[in-house]
Formats: sequence, structure tokens, C-alpha cells
Amino acid sequence: MDLSIVVNGMKFPNPFVLGSGPPGTNARVIAKSFDAGWGGAVAKTVSLESAKVVNVVPRYGKLRSKISGEVIGFENIELISDRPIDIWLDEFRQLKKDYPHHILIASIMEEYEKGRWQELTKLVQDTGVDALELNFSCPHGMTERKMGSEMGEHPDLTEEVTSWVTEVSKIPVWAKMTPNITNIKEPSHAAVRGGAQGISAINTILSVIGVDLETLRPMPTVEGHTVPGGYSSQAVRPIALRMVSQLALSLPKEVSISGIGGIESSHDALEFMLLGSSTVQLCTGVMLHGVKMIDELKSGLEKFVVDKGFTSVSEVVGKSLSYFSTHMDLVQKMKAAKRTKAGEASRDNEWGQKDITEKTAELTSN
Ligand SMILES: Cc1cc2nc3c(=O)[nH]c(=O)nc-3n(C[C@H](O)[C@H](O)[C@H](O)COP(=O)(O)O)c2cc1C
Repeated sequence: MDLSIVVNGMKFPNPFVLGSGPPGTNARVIAKSFDAGWGGAVAKTVSLESAKVVNVVPRYGKLRSKISGEVIGFENIELISDRPIDIWLDEFRQLKKDYPHHILIASIMEEYEKGRWQELTKLVQDTGVDALELNFSCPHGMTERKMGSEMGEHPDLTEEVTSWVTEVSKIPVWAKMTPNITNIKEPSHAAVRGGAQGISAINTILSVIGVDLETLRPMPTVEGHTVPGGYSSQAVRPIALRMVSQLALSLPKEVSISGIGGIESSHDALEFMLLGSSTVQLCTGVMLHGVKMIDELKSGLEKFVVDKGFTSVSEVVGKSLSYFSTHMDLVQKMKAAKRTKAGEASRDNEWGQKDITEKTAELTSN
């Protein structure tokens, strides 16, 4: 079945894209994922001077389910790519030559200086990559150089820097948003005013994964110390879904959304698509389960499209958005459905008659 989707003029063989991070850290791993069947990849974020980027070890931390041991949350304090830009430029060229039908997106980040952003934009787009993703959202490390989420947390900077890029870019530009902000619509709309054609959401949530009760050190611990890092994996998915839905309901229709955050299966991916994402990106899921995940992603999407009677993948995008409303409207609808009684039976005064967990289950829909 044809799972392709056209987004901002780019034809993705399927909507599944490697998110910027370890799964796109060099041409070798990107090529492996294209061979496995991924529709596209956002490469690890690059900048002009890799020598300024020095990573630490360890740089990851996991949160596990107390019952099954499954990883549900993941923190990283990894920086952007520490590989020289010249090597990246050669690799972008080679990848596009070897995989002309897969979509290759370069993620770029620079300091707050017009000349640097425009130089990086031109260098990267000249290699033939299909699009650019502007990293306004890495919440740790790079912020000490006023990069990453230091820009995405300030809509005025987001708009200005996006416009520097779109002034010289000839390919689609997506802006990647930080969730570490009260209202994600503000920087996203600012990026669109600056000329972005797509919004990628979300990057990681600022976090501390835990504290070692033996040593009293917060984790991940590097020479006894730590910094807050970016939280990803399954636990962030509900927050990402909420943000994606807010964006889809407020952005102009022609602006595409690439949904990111805790996707590990076709079920998760479909939730993002139903809430307005035309592509989805996976990072931590691929780090934990490998590139072969693409098989289930594709077969699950295909089954869903067939079962629901859709004729193309693009028909799925945004199908659940019309079911959002206001609390006031939910009450009106409930009254109209003559279910007032059921609602009144759940007034707060009633809590306490039953065990709190039973009461919670009674009011939960799934
Ligand atoms: C180890 C690691 C490194 C990452 N590096 C980058 C990066 O270089 N650029 C970027 O835009 N996002 C980066 N991210 C963020 C991911 O692309 C993604 O937005 C986030 O992790 C949420 O998606 P996930 O739950 O599928 O991982 C990184 C995430 C992880 C876990």
C-alpha cells in the first residue's frame, strides 16, 4: 500500500522520520535506517564550530516502571553534534546521492548572529538536503551559549532568527519548538511570521531524572555533579499530544506539523497524526528498540488506513481535532444528553464515600 504523504512539497515515502539525535548522528546510521524503510531523517543538529561542543559521560538517565522495569522516561544532557561541519556537508551530499527518494532534513543551530545563521543555512542547503529544521529548543548545555531553547523561549528572537534563515533559504524551513514555555503557540506563531513552513514539536522537557540515595548525587552524575537535562520517551507523550493539538488548532492550515515525543508504536504515531501531525519523528524509541521498529510502524498505519476506510495517509491528519471543545460546552452537551444525573453523582462532596482509587476509575474513560 502507498503510505506516502506530501508535506511542504516534499514527498515522504511514509510519515515516519528519525528525530534529531543519536539515530541520525552520522551518515552510516541514517543510511541504515533508510535501508530499513524509514521515510525520512532529521540529522543530529549541526553548527559551524564543532570544536566548541564537548560531550560528557555518562549523559543519559532512565526512569523505569516500578512494576515491569520498562523504560518510560529518559533524560539526556547530550549536546548537538561534535562532528566537523565539513564532514557533515560531505555526508549530506552523499546521502542525497545514494537515497534520492528519502527525505533528508538538516537540523541547524547557531549563536545569535545573523551572519553565522545565514552562512550555515547556505552551506547546508547547497548540499541538496530537502529541508532545514531550526533547533530553537535544546534545553541544556547549548543554552549556556544562548543557543537552543534560549531562542525558542523568546518569541521575538524566534521570529527574528527564523527570518534570517528564510531570507536566504530556498528549501522548506521547519522550526523545532521547546515545551519549556507556558504557551507553545507564541514562539510557533512567531516562527511562522518569520517564514517557517513547518513546526516540529516537541523537543525535550527540562528535568532531573532522579537522585542516588546512596551518594546523595542527582543523576546523571558526572564527577559527582549534574545539570538538569532533557526528558523524553513515553512519559512525555501526553504533553506533546496536547501541544501538537494546540498548534494544529491555531496555526494556518498550510503550516505543517511534525509531531514528536514518546512515540514507540504505530498506535502512538497515529495519535499524533489524528491531532494534526503530517509526519512524526522518533528519537528515544529508536535508541531503545532499534531501527527495525519501522516494520510495525508501517504495518500498523496501513492496517488503520484500511480498517477505517481512508484512501490515503493524508486523510488521517487532523481527523480528531474537531472533538476538542471547552469545559462549558462539555457540560452543555452532557445536559443535552440527559446525563446530568451521572454528572451530579460525581460532585466533589461524594469523594470519600468510596476508596479514592475506585472513584478515580469511575471517572476515567479508558
Ligand atoms: C540523546 C538525545 C539527543 C538529542 N539530540 C537532539 C539534537 O541534537 N537536536 C534536536 O533537535 N533534538 C535532539 N533531541 C530531541 C529529540 O529529537 C526529540 O525531540 C525528543 O527526544 C522527544 O522525542 P522522543 O521521545 O521520541 O525522544 C535529542 C534527544 C535525545 C534523547
